[in-house]
Amino acid sequence: MEYRIGVIEGDGIGPEIVREAHKVLECVCQAYGHRLSWDKILMGGCSIDACGVPLTDEAVAQAKAADAVLMGSIGGDPATSPWYQLPPERRPEAGLLKLRKELGLFANLRPAYLYRELKEACPLRDDVIGDGFDMVIVRELTGGLYFGERTTTEKDGVLTATDTLTYSENEIRRVAVRAFDVARKRRKKVTSVDKANVLDSSRLWRKVVDEVALSYPDVSCEHMLVDNCAMQLVRDPKQFDVILTENMFGDILSDEASMVTGSIGMLSSASLNETRFGLYEPSGGSAPDIAGKDVANPIATILSAAMLLRYSLDLDTEAQAIEQAVRDVLADGVRTADIMPQPGRDREGLVMVGTAAMGDKICEKIRR
Ligand code: IPM
Ligand code: MG
Repeated sequence: MEYRIGVIEGDGIGPEIVREAHKVLECVCQAYGHRLSWDKILMGGCSIDACGVPLTDEAVAQAKAADAVLMGSIGGDPATSPWYQLPPERRPEAGLLKLRKELGLFANLRPAYLYRELKEACPLRDDVIGDGFDMVIVRELTGGLYFGERTTTEKDGVLTATDTLTYSENEIRRVAVRAFDVARKRRKKVTSVDKANVLDSSRLWRKVVDEVALSYPDVSCEHMLVDNCAMQLVRDPKQFDVILTENMFGDILSDEASMVTGSIGMLSSASLNETRFGLYEPSGGSAPDIAGKDVANPIATILSAAMLLRYSLDLDTEAQAIEQAVRDVLADGVRTADIMPQPGRDREGLVMVGTAAMGDKICEKIRR
């Protein structure tokens, strides 16, 4: 089969991590007899520089025409980059939010898994880690605070800013259904996270999740307040299977979950709509401080490419081949800087490599 992949390199470390994921996808498709065509799409700061806006209509059309889109990361350092002198709706992040909305990508899946080989990079104590943990955060991605009406007004010399948090029951239901479907293929437990002791939107969230849960008698469902969840993620991450939550809570909790696994450089993500289409990107940012230095960890992007094969192209064996190759490379002791134990800790048997070499090593494993 031939598949059409849109590719958004973006800014900062984006181009170099995407290059490795591209390499790995080509490698696995060659091994299994598939063909990929690639269409480069501009988004973020690079699009501002080239076209004056973070996402053009043409870029949206290109993404819509693809079977799936692979993405790096967008944005720069707000303290120094001229992109952040622009009004908010013309900054790099606005491009990503617009793309998610235009493509209806309401369900963001962010798996957080502790590799046994990376126990050293996990900041938690051994007794907390136990046999490791394995969870998926299902984050609502096109509603809530990030898409609500926003205003900044001035009255009598006093500025007031307002953001609004709105959810309809339909928006809640469709992402809840997705989370329960994911749980059904895993350990069959959904933890729905909200702030129902304060927010109306959370009380509606809880009600709708309870209704959806009735259709999944084989999946257990519990509710947890977001502040408690932030604590439980470091106190006992093993308790989680699928965490279902709204946009902003998911943004925050997924960064926390990634650090608990050792590094944000390991965390992949898939943003899905009602069709097979998906946008696949690492959960981490563009890390402008290390851009172009060949030190960024490409594994999150490579694992996102595996998710692309699984969810958009239905190529599960090929996805597993990538995931196994990543495990094999880690087992061989190959590490990028972010997952290397600190100097002074035990580094025996480990070898530090750059971004490109990590991609090459993973390809070598696939070819075997
Ligand atoms: C993420 C990022 C984005 C988000 C930003 C860049 C708008 O933090 O994907 O988690 O908040 O959704
Ligand atoms: Mg985020």
